[in-house]
Amino acid sequence: DSYSLLILPGDGIGPEVMAEVVKVIDWFGANRGMSFDISEGLVGGASYDAHGTPLTDETMVKAQVVDAVLLGAVGGPKYDLLDFSVKPERGLLRLRKEMDLYANLRPAQCFDALADFSSLKREVVAGLDILIVRELTSGVYFGEPRGIHSDDNNPDNEGGRVGINTQRYTSGEIRRVARSAFELARRRNNKVCSMEKANVMESGILWREEVQWVHDNEYPDVDLTHMYADNGAMQLVRNPRQFDVIVTDNLFGDLLSDAAAMLTGSLGMLPSASLGAPMANGRPKAMYEPVHGSAPDIAGQGKANPIACILSFAMALRYSFDQGQAASDLERAVEKVLADGVRTADLMGPEGGTPVSTAEMGDRIVA
Ligand code: NAI
Ligand code: MG
Repeated sequence: DSYSLLILPGDGIGPEVMAEVVKVIDWFGANRGMSFDISEGLVGGASYDAHGTPLTDETMVKAQVVDAVLLGAVGGPKYDLLDFSVKPERGLLRLRKEMDLYANLRPAQCFDALADFSSLKREVVAGLDILIVRELTSGVYFGEPRGIHSDDNNPDNEGGRVGINTQRYTSGEIRRVARSAFELARRRNNKVCSMEKANVMESGILWREEVQWVHDNEYPDVDLTHMYADNGAMQLVRNPRQFDVIVTDNLFGDLLSDAAAMLTGSLGMLPSASLGAPMANGRPKAMYEPVHGSAPDIAGQGKANPIACILSFAMALRYSFDQGQAASDLERAVEKVLADGVRTADLMGPEGGTPVSTAEMGDRIVA
């Protein structure tokens, strides 16, 4: 089987963690009969330095046709004063927008060896394995009208200004992300919880109706429940293992996925995937990236934890290449290395010990 990959290491620790992913890719190539057609490109500050733009048209075109894009991280203090239009983050946003990656998958999985790193008690998180599906291309971050306007005609408004954003969802936007969630649930434990605030938002009422519609018409076999998102936040912290797949909108998903992340420990452990519509070959448009950023405070020191990026590649194996067994094997390798007590600096507990480097962690996982 042959898979095309575009690797965009980006800035800061991005290239360091991506180098370890390349070792993993090479291993699967050599040992599991997979062949990878890999091209590499620049994104973020690295692309700005070379081409004056955080993403070239050429790289954008390439991203549209490969089976999967793997991205490291973008940004850094060097670029903080750049004009908004060429900031490193724009490269990432352009990829998401032009590839129309509407389903953002954020797993929250607690590895037993790290359960004591959780913000919660071990009893609450041990064995946790949930998947939050966040709608990524619409909702209040994009809806019109938006802006900051003067409100001069309103004498009762101290300061005289008004800030506006609009939560807007079409039924089609809700249905397509709902389908993603139901498909994922079928590969897992057949359970979806949809979160909105239908009690106070019309867009929430539509969300609930459309998710239910997709369920009743296309996925009646999946167990669907609905929950108000504020209660969802409480339940995530009270008893996160009651969930399997959670599907929610862009704003609630932003908050809930960050909260869920802290159930599992370090930022250096968290993968993500962003999926769009199926391409002609049946594979979805897809980009995989760690949740963390470019970590300028540790960049260039060999301290970064490559696991988030490696687990992102495991998601690529599962969701783009349909290699579920290989993905599980890779996750088990990570679990084993952690159980053996191998730790990068971010995973050192109060008991101390000697941390391994980025490269050593990668080597141990490959081994
Ligand atoms: P960050 O995620 O880069 O770092 C936050 C803290 O976590 C730092 O102390 C860092 O050392 C640590 N950390 C992050 N990843 C780690 C890893 N793999 N191993 C060990 N420690 C790790 O977030 P921060 O500091 O807010 O942002 C730094 C830069 O990254 C900024 O320019 C920001 O805009 C950018 N950024 C980029 C993202 C992306 O490319 N998707 C996401 C978040 C931030
Ligand atoms: Mg966020």
